[in-house]
Amino acid sequence: MHSFWQELKKPFFVMAPMADVTDAAFRALVAARGAPDVFWTEFVSADGLYHTREIQKMPDDENPLMRDLIKGEGQRPIIAQIFSSKPEMIAYAVKLVAELGFDGVDLNMGCPDRSIEKQGCGSAMIKTPEVARAVIRAAKAASSLPVSVKTRVGYNKESLDEWLPVLLEEAPAVITLHLRTRKEMSLVPANWEFMKKAVEIRNRLNPGVLLIGNGDVTSVEQGTRLVEESGCEGAMIGRGMFGNPWVFAGRKSDDTPLAEKLAALIELAHSFEKMTPPKNFSILKKHIKAFATGFDGAAHLRARLMEAESADALEAIIAQHNAGE
Ligand SMILES: Cc1cc2nc3c(=O)[nH]c(=O)nc-3n(C[C@H](O)[C@H](O)[C@H](O)COP(=O)(O)O)c2cc1C
Repeated sequence: MHSFWQELKKPFFVMAPMADVTDAAFRALVAARGAPDVFWTEFVSADGLYHTREIQKMPDDENPLMRDLIKGEGQRPIIAQIFSSKPEMIAYAVKLVAELGFDGVDLNMGCPDRSIEKQGCGSAMIKTPEVARAVIRAAKAASSLPVSVKTRVGYNKESLDEWLPVLLEEAPAVITLHLRTRKEMSLVPANWEFMKKAVEIRNRLNPGVLLIGNGDVTSVEQGTRLVEESGCEGAMIGRGMFGNPWVFAGRKSDDTPLAEKLAALIELAHSFEKMTPPKNFSILKKHIKAFATGFDGAAHLRARLMEAESADALEAIIAQHNAGE
């Protein structure tokens, strides 16, 4: 089916879905500094959405899962990532995502977290191909949104010859491959050689499905080379956005002066506080670590910023730092 995916220039660069990172506040920061070709939300439990909205009757503006589905200004096209091993829950969440006006829906089949795998979700799907097929079918049938899948190259070992055909037969619009196995977590370098093999299988079985490579991309320049060498269509950047919301505009992490980085952190903290229902301020610590790094006195400033419990407090500490106090 035709969708915005077919219109993207190649190679394209997309934001990785990241829990407690790619929320509406962080996406706004990235959008203002150089937007990716496609935005992604954090992952959201489809079962959780059903339970909180239909059983608990929680109002949407008090529901933390609905906060994860805020679209935000200037953040388009945007894909909502959901997970469930139950086709009926996937169908429920896809319909909701469509009503909310998202541009696509992504199914998480790569998360290695034990609590997710216990629900038969995330990477566990690699071991249950029939469940994977059923949830893709349910997602496709529930709305006209393009459906994509994000997964890994295998569970204990690379198994693209078995796993990728399962997905290709269900014909999602896009497959993102995190180029590591479940067992490897994120402990070894991503292996972009696997993408060459994936492209060969895709070209043979279902050339209409777009492939996005993911793992260790830190700049557009490097990502372009990896995409061109492997033959896929796009690259997804995750941790490369930490401390570098300019990454999609072509900047490398060291290219930005410290004052500009700290100003970005202040902006992020203020918009983070405005999200409803609020998130715990301590979630910003990853960003504090990433922005306040690589200069004389960084450790001291970081330690002070870690104590901040509000955007105003964080801004005051940075003002004192800038004044040489
Ligand atoms: C803090 C954190 C949260 C993540 N949350 C998600 C998530 O919600 N959904 C998902 O598919 N992957 C998630 N991932 C995996 C990333 O999307 C990506 O696949 C991984 O970080 C490898 O890409 P990178 O090397 O560019 O970071 C997360 C990773 C990190 C570090």
